[in-house]
Amino acid sequence: MADTAFNPYAEGIDHVELNPDAKSVHILDQTQLPNREIYKDVSTPEECYEAIKKLEVRGAPCIGIFAGYAMVVMAQPYAELPYADFKAKMAELSAYLNSSRPTAVNLSWALRRMEGVIAAHEGESTPAIIEAMRQESLAIHEEDIAMCRRIAEYGLTLVKDGDGILTHCNAGPLATSKFGTALGPILLGEEQGMHFHVFSDETRPLLQGARLTSYELAKAGVDVTCICDNMASIVMKNGWIQACFVGCDRVAANGDFANKIGTSGVAILAKHYGIPFYTLGPTSTIDMNCPTGDDIKIELRNPDEIKEMWYKEPMALPEVKAYNPSFDVTDHELLTAIVTDKGIVYPPFDVNLKKLFAEEE
Ligand code: MRU
Repeated sequence: MADTAFNPYAEGIDHVELNPDAKSVHILDQTQLPNREIYKDVSTPEECYEAIKKLEVRGAPCIGIFAGYAMVVMAQPYAELPYADFKAKMAELSAYLNSSRPTAVNLSWALRRMEGVIAAHEGESTPAIIEAMRQESLAIHEEDIAMCRRIAEYGLTLVKDGDGILTHCNAGPLATSKFGTALGPILLGEEQGMHFHVFSDETRPLLQGARLTSYELAKAGVDVTCICDNMASIVMKNGWIQACFVGCDRVAANGDFANKIGTSGVAILAKHYGIPFYTLGPTSTIDMNCPTGDDIKIELRNPDEIKEMWYKEPMALPEVKAYNPSFDVTDHELLTAIVTDKGIVYPPFDVNLKKLFAEEE
């Protein structure tokens, strides 16, 4: 367990990495932040599943990167199997991992990519296929770094020095590879000598805004103020917010998007106060096979995360029910633009998202 001081922007330190022997994935356990920077290695299918489920690795792009590495690691015990058996075993393990969290599309996207490699290398030895999977998993990671960097560049054109920016949950380096999505423009601006005042919603119930976003921004020297989720309206009314930047877990073909629970409320407030509201995400988070937000499956989590997780004693009677959806869908009509690695997409989103992918072909 390496317990190094964590600087999300330093070269060479990463919060999700494939170990050199490809037998385990090295992760920073995000559930321990901000008080403990604990790294651990995960290798069995159950450990990989739990790492996603418990949010030790979290954030849509980061889950995708982790899933790629997990497939390589889980393949190791089956290097002796003939092709058909290996392919079937990996399909089973992929489905298992995919069942850990349903909302972020990057998980199934990365798993499909890894299964695609197995299909494309039919006829080669199983160790050679595993090596091709390793290469693919590293490529997923590298591509995410490049995509986040481009998102940061595009996003920075939307704000000016001194702006107040409100963000929800954590869409920083910890949720991706490096740079982050929603936090990317802020960090890039800071690197270029600009200064922003960031309001970080604490983000009930799992406190990603307090524990992770505030942590990342403070470490990077950005002026950050943590607020409870129900304080977004007052800071907007006070005139302290010039733009809202949030991440996304799945963008539907019409521009509706799922992100951490509470995001849609922030978007409604932003509309009320006339503040531009942006979601920022890589093209791997856009699901053109998902027509609208109604087609996005929302993860429901354990009610105890609301009732007792952060308290010395439970804050509701045992018989009190708690409803704990992990995400909500923001209607595309509340969205000013989607900032992607391929450019900024404005309404009409159904038309312009199609164009974005058509340009790729
Ligand atoms: O439940 P989490 O912590 O994985 O939720 C994360 C979010 O909702 C992020 O905003 C989203 O994944 C985008 S990360 C770049």
